[in-house]
Amino acid sequence: MVVGAQWGDEGKGKIVDLLAQEADVVCRYQGGPNAGHTIIFGGETHKIRQIPTGILSGKVAVLGAGCVVDPEVVVAELDAYGERGTFCLSGNAHLIMPWHVAIDQASERRLGKLQIGTTRRGIGPAYADKASRLGIRVQDLLDPKILRQKIEVALAEKNLWLERVYETEPFDLETVAGQYEGYAQRLRPYVADTSLYVDTALREGKRVLFEGAQATLLDLDHGTYPFVTSSNPVAASAATGVGIGPRRIDHVVGVSKAYVTRVGEGPFPSEIAGSEQERMRELGGEYGTVTGRERRCGWLDLVALRYAVRVNGIDQLALTKLDVLSHFAELPVCVRYRTRDGSETHDFPAHQSDFHAAEPVYELLEGWNEPLDTCSSVAELPDAARSYVEFVERELEVEVTLVGTGAERSSVLTRA
Ligand code: GDP
Ligand code: IMO
Ligand code: MG
Repeated sequence: MVVGAQWGDEGKGKIVDLLAQEADVVCRYQGGPNAGHTIIFGGETHKIRQIPTGILSGKVAVLGAGCVVDPEVVVAELDAYGERGTFCLSGNAHLIMPWHVAIDQASERRLGKLQIGTTRRGIGPAYADKASRLGIRVQDLLDPKILRQKIEVALAEKNLWLERVYETEPFDLETVAGQYEGYAQRLRPYVADTSLYVDTALREGKRVLFEGAQATLLDLDHGTYPFVTSSNPVAASAATGVGIGPRRIDHVVGVSKAYVTRVGEGPFPSEIAGSEQERMRELGGEYGTVTGRERRCGWLDLVALRYAVRVNGIDQLALTKLDVLSHFAELPVCVRYRTRDGSETHDFPAHQSDFHAAEPVYELLEGWNEPLDTCSSVAELPDAARSYVEFVERELEVEVTLVGTGAERSSVLTRA
């Protein structure tokens, strides 16, 4: 399985796309269209938000029960990519409804300065309704009568909130019911028992890949709450999100940039100050795939990455965008945090206030000041670039098996 080891946008899409070449099935197990995964091969660029990227390579693409699904996005992606592969969708996944998007937007506006900086795609409100047992699920699309009834019940309450609390426009039952019946007609053929499907595929010896969206530090339970998403991106969640046993997962590949980015609000100890951050943003093209927002940029944070190795059980690391660092003469790497009492720690703080106060302690590594595009394996990297990779391996006690040197599928170095 492939999991984001930082705050998202590590290049999971690219690594999944690469590994999918050897897989039969690619599954997403959490999140929704808040994801934006970029895949570039053969001169084509694709940005996929909802359907697993394996669809591009003719694989079976599975959206598991743990996902929240915006049918409008799925239909658009099916129009674009449906014929390339096979798609199936869990009946237990929850639907993102128009009021989820409206509430996400309105509540962020209300929070003002305290906002989380969500993607405003309705993710939090959809997961909240799921936890409150008020959600509408994909399987409700199978019966027009049930679908309409559930929309009616939900709207009776949601419209009150929208009008009285958020002071925004209510939704019209006929309009929403008509719109969702249209999606239903399109999506019905794809609804399947995805837990059974994946179990059968594994029993038949097929290769199944899990595509994490969001990332460890955005995990609802293990991330930097409240500046997190509303699902569990961590590796163990792949089993619950798809509906298989945890022992079926053989390998956990963590994906990390060779530096760090974060979109949205929240603490970020190794964030770079001033114009040097802008330089990194320009060099790395660090603008959100979904929202186009500027991504905040920082130096590689090994305290946070060590934490990601622990909570996911990462046994291999893919280090992406090493090429972006070619332009810096010196490379600070955060190796410890200085805490409020003045002591230093290798361990990620368990308490929110300690993390807010944490100051990065840097070790300065040498830059290499040359492009990496002629290298065809890790062994061929310039000495300083190889030392950078080996430093990460030593500090984390995890092997870096893939190194990204460009955005194309082919711009990945292996050890051999
Ligand atoms: P994801 O959400 O984790 O799939 O990542 P995104 O697609 O949102 O953002 C990663 C960005 O980095 C995309 O624009 C990729 O094309 C790009 N990218 C991925 N790997 C590399 C790499 O090794 N080098 C460079 N220069 N760009 C990369
Ligand atoms: P991929 O899969 C980066 C961030 C948002 C915000 C917080 C909550 O492309 O790595 P949400 O809309 O989920 O309620 O927003 O999480 N966020 C992401 N940041 N990459 C993502 O996905 C993200 N998905 C959500 O910016 O801070
Ligand atoms: Mg992304």
